[in-house]
Amino acid sequence: MSRSSSASSSSSSRREFLRRSAAIAAGAAASAAAGPAFALRRRETPDERIAIEHRKLGRTGLDVALLGFGGAEIGYERTDQKAVSLLLNGALDAGMNVIDTAECYVDSEELIAEAVGHRRKEYHLFTKCGHFTESGGRGSDWSSAGISKSVERSLKRLATDVLDLVQLHSCPLGELEKGECIAALEKAKKEGKTRFIGYSGDSKAARFAVESGRFDTLQTSLSFLDQEAIDLTLPLAAKNGVGVITKRTIGNAVWRYDDRPPSGYHAEYWRRMKELDYEFTRPGRRDDEGPEGPAGTALRFVAAQPAVSVMLVGTTKPARWRQNAGLLSAGPLPKEALEKMRSRWKEVAKPDWTGQT
Ligand SMILES: NC(=O)c1ccc[n+]([C@@H]2O[C@H](COP(=O)([O-])OP(=O)(O)OC[C@H]3O[C@@H](n4cnc5c(N)ncnc54)[C@H](OP(=O)(O)O)[C@@H]3O)[C@@H](O)[C@H]2O)c1
Repeated sequence: MSRSSSASSSSSSRREFLRRSAAIAAGAAASAAAGPAFALRRRETPDERIAIEHRKLGRTGLDVALLGFGGAEIGYERTDQKAVSLLLNGALDAGMNVIDTAECYVDSEELIAEAVGHRRKEYHLFTKCGHFTESGGRGSDWSSAGISKSVERSLKRLATDVLDLVQLHSCPLGELEKGECIAALEKAKKEGKTRFIGYSGDSKAARFAVESGRFDTLQTSLSFLDQEAIDLTLPLAAKNGVGVITKRTIGNAVWRYDDRPPSGYHAEYWRRMKELDYEFTRPGRRDDEGPEGPAGTALRFVAAQPAVSVMLVGTTKPARWRQNAGLLSAGPLPKEALEKMRSRWKEVAKPDWTGQT
């Protein structure tokens, strides 16, 4: 086949792929709004896979689909097992291959094991450590024994012999500097309990973690409402081969609120969103606008960061992964749009607009 005919056949198959992905995303968007019934009715077939971009996760060499699953919401929102099973099996069928959870997201680890433990070879399993308490209540323990107990408990709850990645979960800078928790995680890696180790957090602590050279990955907040990492940690992470995983990737979708939420991360992101006043977040813009709408633009903004390998999005809805993967199939935001958003941030962002843990 000549170069030109091969190029034109690949561009027509890309057009066909985009058409199919957009159609699937549109169907999934309607279903995400409608709730789990869609996934109960539909049977996945191989030709319903969404062709999602894959990247390498830094020095780990893991081949990862760009859109992963964030397991915080299913725990905190007490999503029932049936919905979690539909959600995760459907996403795996559609092409997802990264599941991220943590030791303290209520029962997220158990929900995941029950839903897809039988398909363990089909996904990379990431969890976090540092919040082990004997009582099972809230708290943290960055001692060597505490980290070790946390990892053991995750192995049990996730019903697996080995984790792919264990991350120090929002560990404060002072504890990182002491080093005991890092050494404990390195020990878990040597003992074969986890293949790789990472740091999950932001700002100065994240910078310290990347500079230390002791972590394989960095999980950090990054969205159009949380851009500190773009200059602070991403370039160095890329240079040092540290794989970057993003959290709070769509800024908790705060455009959904008409009024400022009362407190917490949502309130902070909502305030930033109003001050930034990006056109795609103004009242009246809707998620069913596809890749140019709020969710599509938010996702494609993060995808346009070359240092990023996996974008985690949290959800409790069975059809969301497919919908978001469809939005991403339009590709990362083009350079001009990206630069416009970056310069607006530089103009408006206050010194305290740091990465939200
Ligand atoms: N310190 C840490 O280590 C840390 C901190 C925060 C997060 N994380 C990790 O990162 C993951 C993601 O962060 P996150 O869950 O806090 O924030 P996020 O992914 O930015 O936002 C999740 C929210 O966005 C909504 N959403 C998803 N897709 C949407 C769409 N297309 N249109 C409208 N709304 C949409 C979800 O609602 P629906 O349920 O309706 O889909 C959910 O409420 C977590 O699950 C966790 O794994 C780690």
